[in-house]
Amino acid sequence: MKLFLDTADIREIREANSWGILDGVTTNPSLVAREGRDFHEALRDICAEVQGPISAEVVGLEAEGMIAEGRGLAKIADNIVVKIPMVKEGLKAIRALSAEGIRINTTLIFSSPQALLAAKAGAAYVSPFVGRLDDIGHDGMQLVREMREIFDNYGFRCEILAASIRHPVHVVEAARAGADVATIPFKVLESLLNHPLTDIGLQKFLKDWEKVPRAARKG
Ligand code: E4P
Repeated sequence: MKLFLDTADIREIREANSWGILDGVTTNPSLVAREGRDFHEALRDICAEVQGPISAEVVGLEAEGMIAEGRGLAKIADNIVVKIPMVKEGLKAIRALSAEGIRINTTLIFSSPQALLAAKAGAAYVSPFVGRLDDIGHDGMQLVREMREIFDNYGFRCEILAASIRHPVHVVEAARAGADVATIPFKVLESLLNHPLTDIGLQKFLKDWEKVPRAARKG
């Protein structure tokens, strides 16, 4: 499963990228607003840092506007993926832009029929929002399982990008459900690293190492 970072914060992206495990980045208008920076400039920095797919979202509501925005975003860098919301006008824009070779991530997916439509329109990725479904008492991960089954039944090449991930268990469940990608907030990604037994074990190894005579340490 590929790991994307769900942020527009270039410091978080640089830090996670330095760990050698980052496959891509997703942004959205809320994450961009948090940074207080020029949108295109922020995207240029992110695309220069990470070679994998970088999702950038359109804000228009009519297909024509989404298509124009999408073309503009795609010009920023080769690794830009245009993010389009799951609405009727969005489907038209997905069809038009994907026919031009621009990769699309369909966002705000909350049901399997929505995912099916986005895949049929030509999206490269569909983003089920797992955490937001959990928030309203649904089982968000069940949607990922259903989508996996449907896409596999028909050989859709569209990738399932588990989004709105809130904690490490979501990441594990997404991997078990066969999501192609999980996009993860920095704090959650960092928490995947940690285990108290690792810390205790390391401390013990280092303490025991002190018992090895200095002259015997180098071999
Ligand atoms: C997906 O690409 C979105 O940016 C994101 O995962 C939304 O998550 P949230 O529900 O935490 O805002």
